[in-house]
Amino acid sequence: MYRIVRKEVMSPVIKLMEIEAPEVAAKAQAGQFIILRIDEEGERIPLTIADFDRTRGTITTIFQEVGYTTRRLGTLEAGDALADFVGPLGQPSEIANYGRVVCVGGGVGVAPVYPIARALKEAGNEVIAIIGARTKELLIWEDEMRAVSSELLVATDDGSYGHHGFVTDLLKQILEERGKVARVWGIGPVVMMRAVAETTRPFGVPTIVSMNPIMVDGTGMCGACRVSVGGETKFACVDGPEFDGHQVDWQLALRRMNMYREEEERILK
Ligand code: FES
Repeated sequence: MYRIVRKEVMSPVIKLMEIEAPEVAAKAQAGQFIILRIDEEGERIPLTIADFDRTRGTITTIFQEVGYTTRRLGTLEAGDALADFVGPLGQPSEIANYGRVVCVGGGVGVAPVYPIARALKEAGNEVIAIIGARTKELLIWEDEMRAVSSELLVATDDGSYGHHGFVTDLLKQILEERGKVARVWGIGPVVMMRAVAETTRPFGVPTIVSMNPIMVDGTGMCGACRVSVGGETKFACVDGPEFDGHQVDWQLALRRMNMYREEEERILK
């Protein structure tokens, strides 16, 4: 069993859980994910790794309650335990000293961006971070992101905090005004990642996106995470989750993401 050692309610629908899983924590790297199952009857769900602590032997994950299992998970408390916790899975982010990089996180996508930004900073990059959410209440890990970046910019869709508008407005400004940006990471809802890729495309800046949101079982078996990258079929959970954002077929990705929506709504009724 895998014990929950800390739970934080970040907003009514966003929860943080730190889970004891020393073997996973020992190997986890930025960009990877885990799969958990609440109990024997539960479905397996993939969640991104927001942080890992090798000394404490823990993995931190931040999730939004969007379906049956994440809602159930959200009702658990510190001291409760999970039946299965498998990982780290997926390919780690390609961390190197690129020079100046921009890390963009939207919604709960800020969570997986955090270890990537930290690793990039440790590798010697100048890290400009841009985080955003629909409203101030849904904005997560501002202080944490500030600690691992050279500069932090914030946007909210409704203007309740920071720039009134989208993270991509701020990204465009940086690309226009700051000279060379070597690489951009963009993680968040699929529509946001598509917007990040379209913003950087005219500037020719390599852009990495994480196709976590389209994964279902995370094991290469369900086929739900098939994504077309540069005309080749890839599985987000095995070949990714990170891909070149300029090569992803976004229309197909958006269709896949909506595939299970009807079924999920039936379960929740
Ligand atoms: Fe099922 Fe990748 S999530 S095959």
